[in-house]
Amino acid sequence: MVSINIENALNKQIRIEAESSQIYLSMACWAESKGFEGVAEFMFAQADEEREHMLRLLKYLTERGGKAIISELSKPSTDYNSPKQMFEEVFEHEIFVSNSINELVSLTFEEKDFATHNFLQWYVAEQIEEESTARTILDKINLIGDDRSGFYLFDKDVRSMIAKHSAQ
Ligand code: FEO
Repeated sequence: MVSINIENALNKQIRIEAESSQIYLSMACWAESKGFEGVAEFMFAQADEEREHMLRLLKYLTERGGKAIISELSKPSTDYNSPKQMFEEVFEHEIFVSNSINELVSLTFEEKDFATHNFLQWYVAEQIEEESTARTILDKINLIGDDRSGFYLFDKDVRSMIAKHSAQ
């Protein structure tokens, strides 16, 4: 059985993961509307992953006797100036998620909930991966600069990162 504090914190994280999925879905739609098909596919896959992150938390909370709450979600942005600005937002968002996971892990120590602590280690590892992927993509964008043909290759390159990222 989880404590009420852990239950509330897990529900907060469930909402954050669900909002992440919505944000990435919105980015996928934006990318598609601008002709960045590879980026769109990548963001659709990211949105699916975030939904999986949400479900994993939800199932764990239920298994431990807690009540999972499906809450209202904030409306994500629908417009971006450029793929660079969009991926900067992805990176900042993943740092926000990492901080939230870290706070949750810290709470498990206070509550002496070592089962939840163990469960959260998967998320700690996943966040390292997610931050690193966003950073790699931003590095690629910075290398391209304003070269339009570079963006064509970049779009294909990002699409090829879907399989690699999902396989990890
Ligand atoms: Fe589930 Fe990208 O954090």
